[in-house]
Amino acid sequence: MERELALEIVRVTEMAALASSHWMGRGKKNEADEAATSAMRAMFDTINMRGTVVIGEGELDEAPMLYIGEKLGHPDAVGPEVDVAVDPLEGTTIVAKGHNNAMSVIAVGDRGTLLHAPDMYMMKMAVGKRAAGKISLFDSVDKMIEVVAKANNKRVQDVTVIIQERERHQHIIDTVREKGARVKLFGDGDVGAAIAACLPHTGIDLFLGIGGAPEGVISAAAIKCLGGDMQAMLKPQNDSERERCIKMGLANPEQLLTLHDMVKGDDAIFAATGVSDGELLQGVRYLGDDMVETHSIVMRAQTKTIRFIRALHNIEHKPNLSWK
Ligand code: FBP
Repeated sequence: MERELALEIVRVTEMAALASSHWMGRGKKNEADEAATSAMRAMFDTINMRGTVVIGEGELDEAPMLYIGEKLGHPDAVGPEVDVAVDPLEGTTIVAKGHNNAMSVIAVGDRGTLLHAPDMYMMKMAVGKRAAGKISLFDSVDKMIEVVAKANNKRVQDVTVIIQERERHQHIIDTVREKGARVKLFGDGDVGAAIAACLPHTGIDLFLGIGGAPEGVISAAAIKCLGGDMQAMLKPQNDSERERCIKMGLANPEQLLTLHDMVKGDDAIFAATGVSDGELLQGVRYLGDDMVETHSIVMRAQTKTIRFIRALHNIEHKPNLSWK
């Protein structure tokens, strides 16, 4: 993939974050999502890329924009074709309520490399570079904590496990507490949480839990760039979800998915811009005089470069922001 694509992609997440940030705390999650989606869609048209949406806002009949199979990029674009996975607003409820942790995210891989994860639940485990390859999703939570403690050179009581606050995770939360390790709960936005487990400066050692499968593949692209590890398993809830898994080539829908199964090949690009403050990024800040600050991360798996980008935007000069 062209190196320049990474910087182009972060311009897209910036615009989506700016557009949805207008809806912060206004109690309107659909409007926040639509604003992010249409800003993202408009920006993609300006990029020299031949992309196909493999994870997006839904199938063609459910989503007018960024639907699965939609072609993205400037009409005259040349160069290799790529798979694109988007979540214009990861954390729609977060923005509606004005809470922390919302981001706009995109992952890009060479054509045919990103798993076309259906919109269903997925069990996920993520760890950083030091524990990569040492933990299996099938290990007990007790064992995972012991291994991660050793790998990260911490005592068990200093290990922090990040878990989404859901009833379905209560047994995991109880086990971590019984083991004597620390628990960090979050309300929504598990892409940021999975990434946080791979960055030593966050102090988070392990991410565990069931969340969306599309978010899982996007997290996997980021984790590949960070040199961490992620394993997952789809959790179909009914026969129709099970059939969807089989149709996409998973003979056993609940088989183990490695990082490589989710993101094949050596290269991937991941970009995210914070909408509200989170573990990873600061949210959009309105500074006055039409100036707005964004905070983004953009990474490439091939080179493992991690860039944090702060940008100051003058919203009077942004053609794609519909609320102006
Ligand atoms: P949305 O952006 O669709 O609101 O998703 C937020 C999220 O928290 C994801 O990060 C996570 O994967 C999923 O929802 C968990 O689903 P549920 O809310 O059903 O527990």
